[in-house]
Amino acid sequence: MVEITRQQLTEDPHPIHAELRAESPVAWVEALGGWVVLSRELAVEVMRDAATFTVDHPGFTTAQVVGPSMLSLDGPEHRHHRDPFVNFFRLAGLRRRFADYLADTAAARVTELRSRGFAELRMGLAGPFAVDVVAELLGMIDVDPLELLTLYRDIVGAVTDLSAGNAMPSSGPAAVAELRSHVARAAAGTGMLSAVAETLTGDEVLSNAAVMLFGGIETNEGLNAAALWYLLTEPGLLSIALENRDVLASLVEEALRLEPAAARIDRFATRDVDIGGASVAKDDLVIISLAAANRDPASFAAPDEFRLDRRGDAHVAFALGPHVCIGQHLARMETIALLDAVLSGLPEIRLDSRRSVGPTGLVFRKPAAVAVTWQP
Ligand code: HEM
Repeated sequence: MVEITRQQLTEDPHPIHAELRAESPVAWVEALGGWVVLSRELAVEVMRDAATFTVDHPGFTTAQVVGPSMLSLDGPEHRHHRDPFVNFFRLAGLRRRFADYLADTAAARVTELRSRGFAELRMGLAGPFAVDVVAELLGMIDVDPLELLTLYRDIVGAVTDLSAGNAMPSSGPAAVAELRSHVARAAAGTGMLSAVAETLTGDEVLSNAAVMLFGGIETNEGLNAAALWYLLTEPGLLSIALENRDVLASLVEEALRLEPAAARIDRFATRDVDIGGASVAKDDLVIISLAAANRDPASFAAPDEFRLDRRGDAHVAFALGPHVCIGQHLARMETIALLDAVLSGLPEIRLDSRRSVGPTGLVFRKPAAVAVTWQP
């Protein structure tokens, strides 16, 4: 096979994954400096085996910026960080706590746009709504969402700089210090952070709150935007959804399968190990391509097609195993509420295809621009 570039993998990884997978379920990709797991079956195996494929490794830089958290630990330490949060993310409780909030906030965001007659919905709706939801989740409702977004961007920027081998930029610790004061105020209140503060130290509450920002902003912006993208680009889907909101749940699952907002998750091998015919050495980077697993023809018939009536294997957009996304129910509720609000508030919406740009991104994938018009 010819050399694969990061650019190609950013723009359209799917045909490359299919070609690689046809040769072998695990491939070394020089441009990524790691092994890429391409089959759903092996992806599940690797995600479930945290003893062999760990996140607890100096190759990860997130912990250097925000401190150790559930995202950067394995084994008993991981459970120590994650367990106190688990109850808050159960579906029944989330429905009680968030259903009205999500419906009202999404409707308000759509109403703000209504009189304009046009909008770019990724930056104008998908992103701001994702920030609203995380702020509400963390009990940071007195913080300006724009400030929260700036803190988030500074922390992500610091992680990215460290990963590229650069020094820590001063904006990283400054943003973490600012977040610390917001977290301390929320932990003194009555919400989720105050409850977990009974078990976790101040530093542990902070690092996990930071991880919720990572977990809930970029990814849910991506999921919101991808779901809107399919709603507006799949032939006939908009009319079906306007008639019957019950299809929104399946629509969101197909958006998650075809363009998982976190397209890959990374692990490091703790020992020499053979997987899928590949000889992985201790400390090698092992990239689980959720995007590739979700289009594995062994699990999904006509894997590149959007189908509302899929049965059988589930997609792995939220990962599996000990690090399975703790926010997955909330993520789905958020996106369904947003689609519902768009259908109710802007029923004559149309994609402006000249100004729209489809899914792109190497790690976090999302449509770059979902430009739309409607009759105000
Ligand atoms: C309100 C929204 C969300 C919140 C609060 C959230 C939070 C989190 C947290 C805290 C983790 C770390 C769990 C652990 O390591 O034990 C996690 C993992 C993960 N989340 Fe989410 N998440 C949200 C939405 C999403 C969305 C929309 C996606 C993708 C479509 C996503 C994909 C993932 C994946 C793939 C992992 C596994 C990471 C890994 O194993 O390396 N999440 N999430």
